[in-house]
Amino acid sequence: MKIDVLTLFPEMFSGVLGASMLGRAQERGILEFGLHNIRAYSQSKHKNTDDYPFGGGAGMVMMPQPIFSCLDAVDPQHEALRIVLAPRGETLTTAVARDLARQEHLLLLCGHYEGIDERAMAQMDREVSIGDYVLTGGELPAMVLIDCVSRFIPGVLGSSESAEDESFSAGLLEYPQYTRPAEYQGMAVPEVLLSGNHAHIARWRRQEAFRLTLKRRPEMMESLDESGLDKHDRRFLAELKNQEN
Ligand code: ADE
Repeated sequence: MKIDVLTLFPEMFSGVLGASMLGRAQERGILEFGLHNIRAYSQSKHKNTDDYPFGGGAGMVMMPQPIFSCLDAVDPQHEALRIVLAPRGETLTTAVARDLARQEHLLLLCGHYEGIDERAMAQMDREVSIGDYVLTGGELPAMVLIDCVSRFIPGVLGSSESAEDESFSAGLLEYPQYTRPAEYQGMAVPEVLLSGNHAHIARWRRQEAFRLTLKRRPEMMESLDESGLDKHDRRFLAELKNQEN
């Protein structure tokens, strides 16, 4: 996948995109990033990128010209799926990330100041928010989106890891994990995990996932499809729900 990022602060991306899984995915040719400094496309004498809002009010607004010129240079045929990161956008969820991961080419526009001129916003295909809070710019949200989407691109995670196995994709929070030693400062690992009985371990993990999800995110349990559960799991779940009430 090719991901072009249009930003006033390209230097913010180097550490995140170069490290860990994203760095490895680039080395393997699975991901390719293009960072484009919007300021370089400004045609004003002082390379301005923002101006006062018509109608007055606080803050500055990103001007259309540098953004239009940058879009023309980076994506002249409008082949990329163009996404602007903005608090007013649809919320980034697993479903959105999985959908975006099917694209060959994404273009991410990062806003700053009080907002982006609406005529530039109209050049975009989608608006995405990473949550109901306002950050100083779209750069961190763009990095979150890139990281989250990349996990669903085949080859980005190692073969033993899978984005599908985890929390929000299965509709449950993740079960607790332990590693060696089996006892640390008097705290023991649950016996069943040392038993070698894979069926028992799988059941324990499912049940712990139910327990955590019901406690912390009860609304997620509402949409759980219980038809795939066996009678033991169903009984366990019914008892858990009883205890809650
Ligand atoms: N820009 C500022 N805040 C944001 C948010 N929560 N999501 C996406 N873009 C943003």
